[in-house]
Amino acid sequence: MNEEQRKQQLNESPSYNHDKKDKPKKDYSTYFDFSSASIEEKEGRQYMKIGGRSIQINEQPDFKKGKKRGKEEVEVQYGFNVPEELRRLGQGKKYLIRTYGCQMNVHDTENMSGILEEMGFTETSETTEADVIFLNTCAIRENAENKVFGELGHLKPLKLEKPELIIGVCGCMSQEETVVNRILQKHNHVDLIFGTHNIHRVPELLQDAILGKEMVVEVWSKEGDVVENMPRKRAGKTQAWVNIMYGCDKFCTYCIVPYTRGKERSRMPEDIIHEVRDLARQGYKEITLLGQNVNAYGKDLGEGYRLGHLMDDLHKIDIPRIRFTTSHPRDFDDHLIEVLAKGGNLVEHIHLPVQSGSSEVLKLMARKYTREQYVELAGKIKAAIPHASFTTDIIVGFPNETDAQFEETMSLVEEMDYDIAYTYIYSPRDNTPAAKMEDNVPMEVKKQRLARLNKLVNDISARRNAELEGQVVEVLIEGVSKKNENVLSGRTRTNKMVNVAAPESCIGQVIYTKITEAKTWSLNGELVEMAEV
Ligand code: 5AD
Ligand code: SF4
Repeated sequence: MNEEQRKQQLNESPSYNHDKKDKPKKDYSTYFDFSSASIEEKEGRQYMKIGGRSIQINEQPDFKKGKKRGKEEVEVQYGFNVPEELRRLGQGKKYLIRTYGCQMNVHDTENMSGILEEMGFTETSETTEADVIFLNTCAIRENAENKVFGELGHLKPLKLEKPELIIGVCGCMSQEETVVNRILQKHNHVDLIFGTHNIHRVPELLQDAILGKEMVVEVWSKEGDVVENMPRKRAGKTQAWVNIMYGCDKFCTYCIVPYTRGKERSRMPEDIIHEVRDLARQGYKEITLLGQNVNAYGKDLGEGYRLGHLMDDLHKIDIPRIRFTTSHPRDFDDHLIEVLAKGGNLVEHIHLPVQSGSSEVLKLMARKYTREQYVELAGKIKAAIPHASFTTDIIVGFPNETDAQFEETMSLVEEMDYDIAYTYIYSPRDNTPAAKMEDNVPMEVKKQRLARLNKLVNDISARRNAELEGQVVEVLIEGVSKKNENVLSGRTRTNKMVNVAAPESCIGQVIYTKITEAKTWSLNGELVEMAEV
């Protein structure tokens, strides 16, 4: 599946896609050359002067700290509010947040929008109209980062034209030392850098950036807390994201997320249940529970209450659909399968990232399961939920992946018969263990493998979709199709996109749809009747 198709599927902002160019290696040493910088302390704060710009450094990212997993209790903070004196800071001003990456970022943007609106800002989609622009960034692959640096370059003339414009960089990239250093050195038109653990500090940080002349840097590398009660401006009225946990402790060797998102920490069950009940009352029809590794939910609460228990409690709430993403096969337990088998509002779609079909590669990735264990788990799920749809993530070209190991990925894809597989070329990430491995696979070979894999994946998706022709399925209508304003589009319980000619009154409703035509990435259908939900 390519980027456009994936965006269409997930309805998300530009992000995960294949690394296209074989770029020369970056010379990071230039980003660490602070010989021209001077540091001074004023009123207990540290200021750095570099390239003619003064920088207020509250806290900088530190990879070593980001890696640490201590025993300190996670604090749940319920006291968030926008201070009274900052509630008018944004009056008459506009903001724009550009979101890159996964659903977690999309949801963080909803929180930041909520905070900014409580400060009096209103949203705009026009860059030239904005007084505040935040880039909510993704660090998962190098090309995601390149896009952000490209965008920073585009914004420079605007900042020169309009010096009062505030440009902020947040999200996963700001948790990386090299990125922050590169911005300090080369992009001094940026006014604010903050990380993924201190979104709730936006009011104060923005005030400092607006009122002071310095660039403000505050990126917490501590393991993170749970901040409840942040205001939130949800993007949709039908489908809502609900965080159930933050961070990741899995440390797969290729992945930067455990360093940028901190340690695994679960929200309290009662806070999640309350939020979902409230969304149901507001008329939302579908909830997607979010976490980097949702199957680890509850481990840190230490009370034996895990994802299965949470799903069982949410099952009782009167809301038509509940999904979760993303799963790690290692933590997917039998109780969860038993609960999911109850069906009803727990939909039969399992996104189960496999990453590779070779047990040897999985070992090097530190995924902590073998191909056989993965297939056995999928078998258990299929036995309990016969119509379950499986989707997955796959990385090709992990360091030293052999032809034979790649063939094992191909054969696993055939065996699993995935509805959709999101495929990526391995992208080395600074400071991760895999980035230190010697790699003997040329980029050309990786690209050929990706092309072969994509062909297989697409053929299977097309066939699986074709099997639905003539069937009647439940579709939750999300809105007017982006491609054709005469049709509405929505999703099946298994998350497949369906375009259907139906009256606009169907938006936000579950309708029965007969599938008339299958395409590789979407389905066309005709309205049969509204479902009773
Ligand atoms: N290179 C390529 N793909 C990666 N992913 C995570 N880290 C990397 C990387 N360094 C992929 C994995 C994950 C998905 C969200 O992104 O497949 O499941
Ligand atoms: Fe990354 Fe692995 Fe954690 Fe997923 S489970 S976020 S791939 S470290």
